[in-house]
Amino acid sequence: MEVRKGTRTPELRLAPLSRRHLDATLQWVNRPELKHFTGTLFPVSRNGHGAWFRRLQNDPLRRWFAIEAAGVHVGNTGIKHLDAANRCAELFIYVGDPQNRGRGLGVQATRQLTAMCFGPLALHRVFAQVFAFNTPALASYMRAGFVQEARLRGHYFHGGRWHDQIVLSQLIHGIHEF
Ligand SMILES: CC(C)(COP(=O)(O)OP(=O)(O)OC[C@H]1O[C@@H](n2cnc3c(N)ncnc32)[C@H](O)[C@@H]1OP(=O)(O)O)[C@@H](O)C(=O)NCCC(=O)NCCS
Repeated sequence: MEVRKGTRTPELRLAPLSRRHLDATLQWVNRPELKHFTGTLFPVSRNGHGAWFRRLQNDPLRRWFAIEAAGVHVGNTGIKHLDAANRCAELFIYVGDPQNRGRGLGVQATRQLTAMCFGPLALHRVFAQVFAFNTPALASYMRAGFVQEARLRGHYFHGGRWHDQIVLSQLIHGIHEF
């Protein structure tokens, strides 16, 4: 569903992913256009999606949030590979419908998620992995305060060729403390 146009960035909140978010999430995860950017390979069935959600609810290493803009569920973001010992985590994000992209939602959601990571979750480092051809995601993460720290050459095979993958990160104090 498209959010109402008007202001460039509608009011946004991150809500813990719940059953009411599952239908839209299932639609998005099966879209070839989105798979191109996320690297998801296989089709997801409704049963498989339900089982995935049950596993997610009992997984302490993952936190999923629905991005709600002016009350409309427009995408998902969250944490995977939460490493409590080293206080690090990998972040992910997608805005489901292309017409809702490029309006600042990604930056705003990433900033809110990062604030949660460095605040209540007391993390020290967050990072994200983005295919090198994904210019909007690179720009969005960098606008949200991430810096590019590594380029994994030929890490991803897609569309008949190898692509590089970029690792971006943000530290709680912005610089590394020795
Ligand atoms: C990545 C994604 C979440 C970013 O969210 P978004 O709401 O589209 O991005 P924003 O509007 O917040 O982007 C802000 C920055 O990206 C830039 N940007 C947005 N769309 C762009 C495009 N199509 N081409 C180039 N730059 C673009 C904006 O210019 C802005 O940069 P600036 O402030 O330096 O000018 C969204 O594009 C998306 O869901 N893409 C598909 C899934 C995906 O790629 N997820 C990440 C996988 S690692």
